[in-house]
Amino acid sequence: MNVLLIGSGGREHALALKISESDLLEKLYIIPGNPGTAQFGENINLDVKNHSIIVEFCKETKIDLVVIGPEQPLVDGLGDVLRKNNILVFGPDAKAAEIEAQKTFAKYIMKSVGVPTANYIEFNTSMYQRAIDYIKQKKYPCVIKANGLAAGKGVVICNNSVEAREALHSFFIDKIFGISGEKILIEEFLTGEEASVFAITDGINFVCLPPSQDYKRIGENDTGKNTGGMGAYAPATMVTDEVLEYVSAKIIEPTLRALGTEGRKFIGCLYVGLILTDEGPKVIEFNCRFGDPETQAVLPLLKGDFLKLLYSASDGNLDKDAISYETGCAVCVVSASKGYPESYQVGYEINGLENIPQNVIVFHAGTKNIAGKVVTNGGRVLGVTSVSQDNDLSAAKKLAYYAMAKIHFDNIYYRKDISNKAIKA
Ligand code: AMP
Ligand code: GLY
Repeated sequence: MNVLLIGSGGREHALALKISESDLLEKLYIIPGNPGTAQFGENINLDVKNHSIIVEFCKETKIDLVVIGPEQPLVDGLGDVLRKNNILVFGPDAKAAEIEAQKTFAKYIMKSVGVPTANYIEFNTSMYQRAIDYIKQKKYPCVIKANGLAAGKGVVICNNSVEAREALHSFFIDKIFGISGEKILIEEFLTGEEASVFAITDGINFVCLPPSQDYKRIGENDTGKNTGGMGAYAPATMVTDEVLEYVSAKIIEPTLRALGTEGRKFIGCLYVGLILTDEGPKVIEFNCRFGDPETQAVLPLLKGDFLKLLYSASDGNLDKDAISYETGCAVCVVSASKGYPESYQVGYEINGLENIPQNVIVFHAGTKNIAGKVVTNGGRVLGVTSVSQDNDLSAAKKLAYYAMAKIHFDNIYYRKDISNKAIKA
């Protein structure tokens, strides 16, 4: 098979690695890719927003499957255009991707089939004063969310009405998220451990990958701003088999069914963001794609043929046995550019990538090659994943940080506590 992978982050490096392990693979192309994905295929510098150029490329290179990594091209309808041209795609059409792109749509779907989620109320820009009145009598903490896409940064947890008022001002007046923040949800704050579950689906049947836990805040002990994700580990053992069965039966199955009924059949990876409350697991978000950096912790644990799994889902005939998880755990620590998730500098040389110990993979995210040197090129720069085959999470954590200490670039920042919650538990 010739496969085209879309994207350029750490997630795409992990996808490229797993796809490249398949005997079914003839050639992998990545648009645009990064120095990490280039180890497994050919990076092609084309504009992902230009759908007709992508279609043309697929035809010329006889692509058998396109795997779309990030949400933006899915939401922009790249999947729709490819399918119209009879090209097989892993990733939903735009209408199904709204499960991520419009939080109010996700709530509507959940409500229609009774999927447990946080209570909420919607406001738009023209309701600014009503929102201000509402937050005066609200219970705290509460959560204010941009309705649209915001790169994982559109959620503010407010501890009191002053913070809530500031958040409302930044969404509605300063418009920090542009049109994504013109509609907001004010949501009940849920207490409990967070977990991410990936369901690979052909639209009807699905298989869950090992659950993971993301560390979303920039600071240690979950302080500071939300980010795209500063690290993750898998499997997240608080998602027991029993919890996963509940999530499958009460959340994933009804959600896929509701999307199908609405004429929005979802093919790809449905990311289920959960909080395990005292009342049971509740959904805090759906994404229409693999999570980043959870993918970098989950995929190294899978045995079998990952490409076969993706192909079978895209072809409408999910082969649940294509992959399996038997044993092992993984910790992924993200190194970022100091200043992220706000402003930061790029262009610093990355050293030490040749000193990486065994059982560690360094996934590239915001990096680029300049004259034979790898330099920083984004907020999240690398994801360092260690694997312990005998399920020793402490050993995996130690190994990830040992490897991270070998890597240097100016203004490097990473959290030191990735996986601590599970180790303490
Ligand atoms: P989201 O982008 O919706 O996943 O939200 C980002 C982060 O905000 C989550 O990972 C949680 O840590 C937190 N969060 C979101 N919604 C809630 C909620 N209803 N209750 C508590 N924390 C939340
Ligand atoms: N790590 C969270 C996300 O991918 O949305």
